[in-house]
Amino acid sequence: MNRPGKNKFSSLYERERKKIDMRLENILKKRSPKSLYDPGAYIINSKGKRIRPLLVLLSAKAVGGKFNDVYNAAVAVELLHNFTLVHDDIMDNADKRRGRLTLHKKYNNNTAILVGDSLLSVAYEYLLKDCDSNAKYVISSFTRGLVEVCEGQSLDTDFEQRKNVSLNEYIIMIKKKTAALAKTCCEIGASIGGGSREEIKALASYGTNLGIAFQIQDDLLDITADEEKFGKKIGGDLIEGKKTYLLIKALEKAKSDDRKILSEVIDNKGIKPQNVKSYKLLFEQLGVIESAKKAIDSYTRKAIKSLSLIKKKEDKELLTWFAYILLNRNR
Ligand code: IPE
Ligand code: IPE
Ligand code: MG
Ligand code: MG
Ligand code: MG
Repeated sequence: MNRPGKNKFSSLYERERKKIDMRLENILKKRSPKSLYDPGAYIINSKGKRIRPLLVLLSAKAVGGKFNDVYNAAVAVELLHNFTLVHDDIMDNADKRRGRLTLHKKYNNNTAILVGDSLLSVAYEYLLKDCDSNAKYVISSFTRGLVEVCEGQSLDTDFEQRKNVSLNEYIIMIKKKTAALAKTCCEIGASIGGGSREEIKALASYGTNLGIAFQIQDDLLDITADEEKFGKKIGGDLIEGKKTYLLIKALEKAKSDDRKILSEVIDNKGIKPQNVKSYKLLFEQLGVIESAKKAIDSYTRKAIKSLSLIKKKEDKELLTWFAYILLNRNR
């Protein structure tokens, strides 16, 4: 699909991202004990893309709602997301996130576990501020998203121990660990924004498909990105022996010797950092970089297709533009 140019929507994204950043910064500032909230601020104030809060805002707008009605919910999903990142980095043995040391490396595991828990608690606190008559729906969606992230993360960990994981199983796993939260963002934005049942459903489908594309792309960037921009260690998934889209697809395509080389990732539960480059080359030769790009493209198209019943042309364009922005991201 085409590359989006700089247009009227870029400034909206920039403006809203800054507002979200400011709100997030203020949340943990005045709290004590500092031993809990300073490390919390360390992850919260680092440079995230703030995609999930944007999904909340855009979904509210798409059904005729106002940004002002959903800022607390937008902040809540980012807090929830940051909680999952902090715990994910312990589970994935990751040293680097958003261009700096991961929280458990900068502090320690105990701090990281507790900071994660506290971010989740504060997330509910902020979500409740934007709940009204729709509280039951909004809190249910948020809670369902959270339950699914945990289930997805558990499947992701289970897959590390498994010899064979099918592409279908992989999609089920990423639908939970990543797409469920994107879906939740759209659902609660659309619900608080006053959307009809059909509108909420359409936006939920947009979020789900965007989320699936997003995780496949995260797997792709893990090997193809520029480390400086990506902010995470390149090849981290291979080093940890993760069952990514690329590895699963490569195993599907490879024959004889290539298969043996790929099996080493699984048998040895990961590879040495110095071998990342040769695996990247193998992925290129097997055409799995291309396969991943095609899959990302296809799920993004599906997401955009879900938008047919969004009434205002500008809102539909904005959500379409956002899908393209994600498609062309390098971090
Ligand atoms: C990282 O999410 C976790 C995934 C689901 C792949 P992001 O790529 O949105 O991370 P930040 O928030 O921008 O750092
Ligand atoms: C992210 O999957 C899933 C979460 C729910 C946090 P990854 O483990 O691939 O995310 P990154 O690459 O560490 O950001
Ligand atoms: Mg992970
Ligand atoms: Mg990870
Ligand atoms: Mg990743």
